[in-house]
Amino acid sequence: MHMSANSANAASTANAARLAIMKRSTVLILKTLVWIGCLLPLATAIYEAVTNTLGPDPTAQLASITGLTALWMLAGTLAISPLRSLSPRLSWLIKFRRLLGLFVFFYASLHMLTWLGLYAGFDLTTITADITKRRFIIMGVTTWLLLLPLAVTSTTWAIRKLGGKNWNRLHMLVYLAALTAMAHYWWKVKTGVMSPAPYTLVILVLLGIRPLLAWNRKRKARAESSRPGNLASIEP
Ligand code: HEM
Repeated sequence: MHMSANSANAASTANAARLAIMKRSTVLILKTLVWIGCLLPLATAIYEAVTNTLGPDPTAQLASITGLTALWMLAGTLAISPLRSLSPRLSWLIKFRRLLGLFVFFYASLHMLTWLGLYAGFDLTTITADITKRRFIIMGVTTWLLLLPLAVTSTTWAIRKLGGKNWNRLHMLVYLAALTAMAHYWWKVKTGVMSPAPYTLVILVLLGIRPLLAWNRKRKARAESSRPGNLASIEP
């Protein structure tokens, strides 16, 4: 038995609607998972603090959890664009970039508060001495200051107000923040300790791959516009 054109259309519309609903529910599940994943380090820190299992140096452990979380989440936000360009199937990743970026700032701020409160006891003289004398602290503060305007301009209102171009330009600061965070980490650890190496490798790959991806995108766009029959290639 053949379906009429109308019922076939209705069936495909229903299919598309179902797919859209499915997609929305998938996004919801993914968002929930991302939120849980992003809150897990905080939950760990709270659990360890409450159960007194932060180890022999609780302040350092708190600084470590919050610092490393901010660091790897920062690498995660930088990985989203390159990952998306690998396949159109990964384009959904963009939905999580702002959320991840805000969590970077959240953990960086908790990390800074750990320092202000637990290391410096909110004592202005200690804070000033640290900021002016210790280069790894200077780099930490610089990183936080670079992340601040990105967090402040993350709202849709701010994006509209700034305009896409300016917003994109401002958000280039994230690359600088990734590098200053790297310097902060290297200067914090003792000579010979290699724990910042994996982050350094990932960040250098992520930053290095960007010009290559941009070049590839331009090449594809050029090939597309010069294809015979493409009206966009005809100059008025
Ligand atoms: C106001 C800004 C900042 C200050 C004052 C600061 C301060 C500190 C301090 C005192 C430590 C040493 C903790 C210890 O005793 O082991 C530390 C470690 C660290 N910080 Fe920061 N930091 C700042 C910003 C940042 C930011 C923005 C990031 C990441 C995006 C970051 C990532 C790290 C990492 C990865 C460590 C090493 C953790 C470990 O070895 O386990 N910091 N920071």
